[in-house]
Amino acid sequence: MNNLSKLTFLLLPLLPLTACEDKGDELEVVEQPVPEGFALSAGNSTVFLTSTYAYDANSDWVRGELAARFRDGDGLYDDALTSSSGLGPVYAGYACGSCHRNAGRTTPSVWTKRADGAYGSGDYGFSSMLIYITRRNGAFFQNYGRVLHDQSIYGVRPEGKLKVDWRYEKGQFPDGETYELAAPTYTITDWYMPGLDGRNIRPEELFCTVRIPLRHVGLGQMMALDPKEIEALARKSNYPEYGISGRANYIFERGRMQLGLSGNKAQHADLTVELGFSSDMGATNSRFPEEISEGQRQIQEGGSMGLRYHKLDVSTRDMEDVDLYLHTLGVPARRNVNDPEVKHGERMFYQAKCHLCHVTTLRTRPRGATLLNGTELPWLGNQTVHPYSDYLLHDMGSEIMGVGLNDNYVSGLARGNEWRTTPLWGIGLQQTVNGHTYFLHDGRARNVKEAILWHGGEGEASKRLFMKMKKADREALIKFVNSL
Ligand code: HEC
Ligand code: HEC
Repeated sequence: MNNLSKLTFLLLPLLPLTACEDKGDELEVVEQPVPEGFALSAGNSTVFLTSTYAYDANSDWVRGELAARFRDGDGLYDDALTSSSGLGPVYAGYACGSCHRNAGRTTPSVWTKRADGAYGSGDYGFSSMLIYITRRNGAFFQNYGRVLHDQSIYGVRPEGKLKVDWRYEKGQFPDGETYELAAPTYTITDWYMPGLDGRNIRPEELFCTVRIPLRHVGLGQMMALDPKEIEALARKSNYPEYGISGRANYIFERGRMQLGLSGNKAQHADLTVELGFSSDMGATNSRFPEEISEGQRQIQEGGSMGLRYHKLDVSTRDMEDVDLYLHTLGVPARRNVNDPEVKHGERMFYQAKCHLCHVTTLRTRPRGATLLNGTELPWLGNQTVHPYSDYLLHDMGSEIMGVGLNDNYVSGLARGNEWRTTPLWGIGLQQTVNGHTYFLHDGRARNVKEAILWHGGEGEASKRLFMKMKKADREALIKFVNSL
């Protein structure tokens, strides 16, 4: 599937945003050669960038008014909110881009040293993770809600701080090569209401799960998939010989049951723009008009904060621009595709059965994707894409180091041990774009090898096939992953 040699551009530069109906005869198709050593990842949305901006450039078909709105969306995305522009009072990040730097994955603060020498929530108004807390029975804590906001504006206390203790364990490949894995244990310190919930929330009552940001590679393509194709994949994803069987997540959103696609547990149907502004940054909007800290005593007693309840922090137009920005980002092309080691690594990827979950090729539906405001993006339609994901949930096990990837956190149909196969496109550029190689939902893996070694449950057979390989084969496989 990587022998495509021509790039097909759909040029629709002068058509207005609503250019969706029957303009077929106006499509000008321009074929352009793919530069040597590269391969298309997402058809006409592929961009040939290998720089810090590889995740953050628009697709080539983004022209005219679309381009203007892309720039607006990009600006809003990176715009650092302040207390006067709607940040907080409590929050987890101060901009979409504070966690998704360059549309990627900001260095996870699970690996940030705190003032007290432990790892976890930064002390200086910075964090790049989401901390979810629940009671063991799944209920949320009153006065806290779903997300523990570990940052706050001046005069307000953060809801709490995350402390991460890393436990290390050594292991060995059959050929004797050694490795080490790090498993996190989380505690919450500095609860903002020690007198009340601090006393009530005992560690043994608390489930805490941490998520590091996801790379924004291929979100438009993901939204242009036909839910029926994902459902068909779920029916097909049954390989008893390898213990693999994926299933789709469904969630109740916007008044109806929908297929989940985004998030580490495929727990959202859309690109979570309104939720991001509200839940991550404390910025109210038309979908989430209430402050996330509504009802918190410290806020009610703060008085001055009351004013903001009457005005939304982010306009609908702004959120639509951010939604457009996310949908129209280009997908970096594959690199080094003619390198013999990379080619060998690709064969090893199939040999280890990685592709049974990290599905290499999908086709977007003919009409493409539709934005929050109803604008259609036909350019995203009918494209052959290589996300290296089935967007399905898989049980990843609870055994490794006594915990596995299980976080005991339920999202829609997804149980604690179930995760959406992370799309691997663009993964090899994470080091360039974000300056680190932390992987998996909580950033516990410090490189690709550790990420693979954490695969248990349905991923166990595949991991074992990887482990049994010759060292040179394993290295080639990793090199292939880094060419994505
Ligand atoms: C505090 C850090 C933080 C901030 C701020 C933040 N995000 Fe995220 N984002 C995350 C994390 C963590 C995840 C993974 C969540 C999960 O799986 O539960 C995520 C997931 C996403 C996803 C799903 C991606 C995928 O591949 O499925 C999208 C889209 C997204 N964020 C968009 C946004 C937008 C838009 C904003 C600003 C309005 C924003 N985020 C602000 C941390 C953040
Ligand atoms: C049973 C399905 C399955 C198989 C087989 C599988 N994976 Fe995964 N993979 C996943 C899931 C699910 C995740 C997300 C787990 C998490 O974040 O906790 C993941 C995550 C990853 C990540 C981390 C991505 C990131 O950006 O955080 C890498 C790298 C990866 N897999 C590579 C591989 C390789 C290489 C193989 C073959 C040796 C493989 N996987 C086999 C399901 C699978």
